[in-house]
Amino acid sequence: MNPSERIDELRQALERHAYRYYVLDLPEISDSEYDSLFRELQDLEEKHPDLKTDDSPTLKVGAPPVSGFETYRHRLPMLSLDNAFSEDELREFDARIQKLTGLSDIEYSVEPKFDGASISLTYQEGKLVRGTTRGDGTAGEVVTDNARTIQGIPLRMRHAHPGEIEVRGEVVMLKADFELVNAARLARGEQVFANPRNAASGGLRQLDSRLTAQRKLSFFCYGTGFAEQPLGADTQTAVMDGLRDLGFPTHRRPVGVKGFAALWAAVSEIRDQRSDLKFGIDGAVVKVNSLALQAEIGFTVRGPRWAIAVKFPAEQAFTRLNGIIWQVGRTGNVTPVADLEPVSVGGVTVSRATLHNSDDLARKDVRVGDIVIVQRAGDVIPEVVGPQLEKRPEGAEIITEPMHCPACETALIRREGVVYLKCPNRACPAQIQSKLEHFVGRRMMDIDGLGSKLIQRWLESGHLTDLASIYRLKDRRAELVEMDRLGEQSVDNVLAAIEESKTRPLPRFVFALGIPEVGEKGAQELATALRTLDAIRRADYDTLTAIDNVGPRTASEITEWFEEPENARLVDDLLAGGVSPVEAAAPRSDAFAGKTFVFTGKLEQFAREAAEALVADMGGKSSGSVSKKTDFVVAGPGAGSKLAKATELGVTVLTETEFLAMLPDGIAL
Ligand code: IVH
Repeated sequence: MNPSERIDELRQALERHAYRYYVLDLPEISDSEYDSLFRELQDLEEKHPDLKTDDSPTLKVGAPPVSGFETYRHRLPMLSLDNAFSEDELREFDARIQKLTGLSDIEYSVEPKFDGASISLTYQEGKLVRGTTRGDGTAGEVVTDNARTIQGIPLRMRHAHPGEIEVRGEVVMLKADFELVNAARLARGEQVFANPRNAASGGLRQLDSRLTAQRKLSFFCYGTGFAEQPLGADTQTAVMDGLRDLGFPTHRRPVGVKGFAALWAAVSEIRDQRSDLKFGIDGAVVKVNSLALQAEIGFTVRGPRWAIAVKFPAEQAFTRLNGIIWQVGRTGNVTPVADLEPVSVGGVTVSRATLHNSDDLARKDVRVGDIVIVQRAGDVIPEVVGPQLEKRPEGAEIITEPMHCPACETALIRREGVVYLKCPNRACPAQIQSKLEHFVGRRMMDIDGLGSKLIQRWLESGHLTDLASIYRLKDRRAELVEMDRLGEQSVDNVLAAIEESKTRPLPRFVFALGIPEVGEKGAQELATALRTLDAIRRADYDTLTAIDNVGPRTASEITEWFEEPENARLVDDLLAGGVSPVEAAAPRSDAFAGKTFVFTGKLEQFAREAAEALVADMGGKSSGSVSKKTDFVVAGPGAGSKLAKATELGVTVLTETEFLAMLPDGIAL
């Protein structure tokens, strides 16, 4: 094969793999295989400069720097969106649209509102010829070389679309890339980016496009701008389908929804998925789906009247660091916790945030008095991202690690290669308190009324000494009532809650024990695989590593934990105290062995939890997301993205009735 043919072949292969990776989310080859094709193409182009073109995938690495950006007047302005901050405000928008159109059942497209920087990409006969920023909406900066380096932006469409067409979308930095970029900046002593949006918009405007390439930005499209020849779609969702087909990444295939209930459900679904998405979002965008209706409804000077952004609460805020509290965890790890001036983040007031460990604290170089960025995403514990160096007050105090345990004064130790400081004293009251607090927690033994204040009081009075002592409290009821200002009723309520906790399901008991490396999911896996507490206690390293998601480190932590005589005695004491974790019954059948199910939409004939439990009971698995490994998707009314993905991947889709019909004789939901 001559070099020109090979170059062509490599370019086509690289484009096809990029499409499978960025658009379909179904890569066929590994990253290293992709890299080796890429390098082969780079080498060939190096040897044959005459065969270089301005749409070759090798342009992804960037071009030499420019001295400044030209400005470009958008052929159609890049407008902004009106905001809605509540369900009611979205309802008002829907009412407005109904009034303007005189129609009652409007179909909407609902998409994530990507939190990045907007970009306009112009293609001529299918080839990328210009990339521009939004600028002031009328004119933006020409950043074509930079655009070429961004992951997911095709330099050539999969099929050439005739004439000139503008594709619009958002440049974002994926959360994982943001972590890497910030870690590298910290290592170089540079200020961290406050959020992926700043990192993306700064990256898009680098004069040296090789720096843009290094920042690993990504792209998602959300529509078209000027088009000599439109895509021939009559709805926003069809436009997105058309763009995907041309090779542009959309978050997923949006599906149209009708009726306010379905509209709000679609917005809520995006909000609930927020912390699981690979990129940051700050809301959902609702658009009238029909392009004809959009044209009829028209624009204001600010933006389209047919679309609105439903904003979600910010996940970050700035506040003052008042001090550091060194907290002793249940395994003795001593971690720095930021004591903050209370601030609202993501709709919740935050006054404490984690700094993970003293390495993290040192790397971030936060000091008492600093204004820091606090982040809280989903259910995750709030964390300090870093300081605002330019706002550092004079004399801000450097934080030093303690030498002694703040609770028991024992000298702290640091094991080789471990980032945590540790209090080696097993009798440390703070450790015991943390163990107890974990044990009684809502997702563990769920002992209502036994909060941290009461635990502390009963530890001090000697009524609580270890986990098993909880179940001996009832023998000292009179003393507790006597001693405490609690009142008889409150003591009885706590004792009743303790009694009730004796029969929690096995996975919760295992999680409650506080075995290092065994979280909620791990405890579930152990209980599912081994079924009884006895089997878990006796399991050896090989048995444990054979279980899904149990790695070598977790397996040795588990065996070491149960081998420790003190722990073995603790478990015996708990059982002697009447704790009797409920073990799962043997599977009822193996009809679904090896099969994976996804339940989606509003299920009307049975509850999702019941169906998932039944699937597990018959040897199958349930998952929350659809992939190539999914065997069946059971879709109820209102199913959206998961159904679309199943159709795209050719996964069998069942109605609820069809699913019920699959159950073996004698088994029902
Ligand atoms: S449609 C006429 N869809 O939000 C403007 N915009 O506040 C129509 N954005 O500048 C834009 N995700 O950069 C649209 N799914 C989405 C979006 C989105 C993010 C950005 C866009 C725009 C800004 C408007």
